[in-house]
Amino acid sequence: MKCRKCSGSAVINMRQHKLALCKEHFLDWVLTQTERNIQKYRMFNHNDQILVAVSGGKDSLALWDVLNKLGYQTGGLYIHLGISGENHYSDQSLDYVSNFAESRNLKLHIADIPEKFGKTIPQISKNSRRNKSKPCAICGLVKRHTMNEIAVQFHYDILVTGHNLDDEVSVLFNNTLSWQIDFLRRQSPVIPSKDGLPKKAKPFCRFYERETAAYSILSEIDYIEEECPFADGNTMIDNKNVLNQLEHEHAGTKLSFYLKFLKAKQILFPDIVSYFSPEETLQSCDSCGQPSPNKGICSFCRLIEETCK
Ligand code: AMP
Ligand code: FES
Ligand code: ZN
Ligand code: ZN
Repeated sequence: MKCRKCSGSAVINMRQHKLALCKEHFLDWVLTQTERNIQKYRMFNHNDQILVAVSGGKDSLALWDVLNKLGYQTGGLYIHLGISGENHYSDQSLDYVSNFAESRNLKLHIADIPEKFGKTIPQISKNSRRNKSKPCAICGLVKRHTMNEIAVQFHYDILVTGHNLDDEVSVLFNNTLSWQIDFLRRQSPVIPSKDGLPKKAKPFCRFYERETAAYSILSEIDYIEEECPFADGNTMIDNKNVLNQLEHEHAGTKLSFYLKFLKAKQILFPDIVSYFSPEETLQSCDSCGQPSPNKGICSFCRLIEETCK
């Protein structure tokens, strides 16, 4: 297979774009497409301070790398969840993130959940009334709350995450199967800031997972390859398998499902995308001050109260 740009030997063939590229032109293409996405969805500009949530995985480290190369002003945020498992998942992920930040002289915020609350995510989940066999839902709540908190505390203009197209499409598929209207309404490449919550964006939302993986490998970014030990059997992973099967039969299925959804959304939900549905009136949490649809204290503070005190 030959590179479309230079006829050198291609390292990747992106069937959905009918585009094969060599290493040099693929790395360039990722930068150009990211910049285009940032402009298209009016995510941020060069004057903004951008907080990149980095997990130590390929997507978020690749995103941080790309934003740097594009000359954006960034700081990183790593949330230590206290997940151990055989490979000391959280400690190892932190090593990858710290090495990345140090080698590029980038600012890194570390939010240490066990240090702050005295309990790890698996312990919080076990102590919780909503105790399920897996801590993923609680972990998501803690991550969201912490990202908002750090972005606001350090006056960042925007919070970005490394969600790729496969992530977006599996969530979309799930929310469509169960017609979760509120979740569908708020799924977007960019969410404006509201009532003290930071603006959020996903600059990689149009890249397939294999493209962000290829970018990381070709750019020699060291990242944690292992998944979180709780990821196995996760519904999102089952969805990804189904969608990969469809993609295999018809190249471009995932991209078109996502892009057509974004188009349909303008008709289905013409109101502005927001964290909360338009009917919800927001209160400020009595404990942490973050906006919440609940009266009194927000669901995060309630969880901490219930499980860590
Ligand atoms: P996930 O929810 O694990 O699929 O991750 C989606 C995105 O959330 C990643 O690309 C990161 O941007 C961010 N993220 C996930 N875990 C962490 C973490 N422990 N610390 C900071 N950001 C994270
Ligand atoms: Fe949160 Fe796996 S990363 S439970
Ligand atoms: Zn080339
Ligand atoms: Zn609160």
